[in-house]
Amino acid sequence: MTKHALKNIPNHVAIIMDGNGRWANVRGLPRSMGHRKGVEAVREAVRTAAEAGIGYLTLFAFSSENWSRPESEVTDLMGLLKTFIRRDLETLHGENVRIRIIGDRSNLRSDILPLLLEAEERTRGNTSIQLVIAFNYGSRDEIARAVRSIAGDVAAGQIHPADVTPELISARLDTAGIPDPDLIIRTSGEERLSNFLLWQAAYAELMFIPDFWPDFSRASFLDALAKFAGRERRFGGVRTPTLAVGS
Ligand code: IPE
Ligand code: IPE
Ligand code: MG
Repeated sequence: MTKHALKNIPNHVAIIMDGNGRWANVRGLPRSMGHRKGVEAVREAVRTAAEAGIGYLTLFAFSSENWSRPESEVTDLMGLLKTFIRRDLETLHGENVRIRIIGDRSNLRSDILPLLLEAEERTRGNTSIQLVIAFNYGSRDEIARAVRSIAGDVAAGQIHPADVTPELISARLDTAGIPDPDLIIRTSGEERLSNFLLWQAAYAELMFIPDFWPDFSRASFLDALAKFAGRERRFGGVRTPTLAVGS
């Protein structure tokens, strides 16, 4: 894969892929068509991210709150996820992509969980980009599960309360071992996080793009990366002077 000469590439980009329904709506199509087009945008985004040299790409595919949608839409989205993994797993594996899944795995349907586990297992040794798929994911749920696991260890005397640090909490989240996102992009013009990576987003740059997800192209992604390169991140510190005063 050809790498592009882009400056200041974020190591981890996370995307809230929003607007499939509205993309279809403005065309007089059923929402399901928007989700289908959305899968094509996923393929293009993964390719672009890998070419740009991004280390981790996290995609918000289905939230723990999305179960509240009409049953037919939920079934449709589950079907698309299954087809995506069945059809694209070998291609992604061939491109050395490592797949990781974040979200609550308990109570997942028996036709979904084995596919997710297989995708992780098959690509475990891959060393190109890591594609993190957030499925049945909600940040508050993730934090609650992490806190429960720590509380269990404290109650069992394995961890002292004083040892509960931000690092320990990070290590108990579904994203353990994955660096925090540098850039979070949300498409469709909505400006909210909708329960996505709340802990991990502490110092992420946020970018809200008006395009609906199916219209998010390689050019839109490269444009977002160019804008990111121009952002100044401080992490609570002070600006690094670029010119000496009086010179
Ligand atoms: C994002 O598009 C896809 C998922 C949430 C699975 P939406 O389905 O939320 O589309 P809008 O926001 O209704 O347009
Ligand atoms: C966030 O989008 C979830 C995904 C993109 C999977 P939603 O469409 O569910 O978010 P809200 O309801 O507009 O906040
Ligand atoms: Mg939406």
